[in-house]
Amino acid sequence: MSVTTHQLIQWKQQGRSIVALTAYDYAIAQLIDQAGVDIILVGDSLAMTVLGYDTTLPITLDEMLHHAKAVRRGVKQALIVVDLPFLTYQESPQQAMHSAGRALKETGAQAVKLEGGYPAMAATVSQLTSAGIPVMGHVGLTPQSVHQLGYKKQGKTAEAADRILAESIALQEAGAFAIVLEHIPADLAAQITQKLTIPTIGIGAGPHCDGQVLVTSDLLGLSEKQPPFAKAYANLRETITQAVTDYSLEVREGKFPE
Ligand code: KIV
Ligand code: NA
Repeated sequence: MSVTTHQLIQWKQQGRSIVALTAYDYAIAQLIDQAGVDIILVGDSLAMTVLGYDTTLPITLDEMLHHAKAVRRGVKQALIVVDLPFLTYQESPQQAMHSAGRALKETGAQAVKLEGGYPAMAATVSQLTSAGIPVMGHVGLTPQSVHQLGYKKQGKTAEAADRILAESIALQEAGAFAIVLEHIPADLAAQITQKLTIPTIGIGAGPHCDGQVLVTSDLLGLSEKQPPFAKAYANLRETITQAVTDYSLEVREGKFPE
């Protein structure tokens, strides 16, 4: 049985930390699912980590769905969430419904994630959840707004912190089943986590969230550069470079194949 949104809320109540990671393809999705991750996010970080774009802005819905289908084929347990890319949901609730509907119907994912809070995004989330589409929110540093926010920590002034808290509450009231808190002060994340009945999933938001998410390329040490809050648990750049160097040498020296 696959992880459900209902289960995530129970885990919050029980104090069981939720583990989330991104995946963009079949092979990695299968490995991280078998390792027992709870949520697999087909994040639009795909634009940067796999497709080589400078920001997440250029990726299309079709590109996201292409990767989400591959992820779906690799996953048996985890809840799969697909990011709606920039300008495939901000225009109107109708546009969001169309995009989210495609994400669920064409890929078999169980939920979508979108960035931003209130008031416009809360109204959109409300329409999606009314139609039976589970929505994960995302506030704090929202990379689709990079040209306004940059990649710096959000919610540092009392005013900004209040706004992020208000956005989180509005998203919960609109029916979101969980919220990603990205790059905000740990005490603000703790305060939001305490106020909400739905789980908070932190990234660069300190240890007091109900769960954590990382970009898998950062976790594996595969990213060209990674944000200050990420932690590499492996160094795949080094491993891959070494393997390719060894192979090249053996071919050139006539050692492979034997
Ligand atoms: O696209 C992504 O990888 C994300 C996570 C960082 C939450 O949105
Ligand atoms: Na994203």
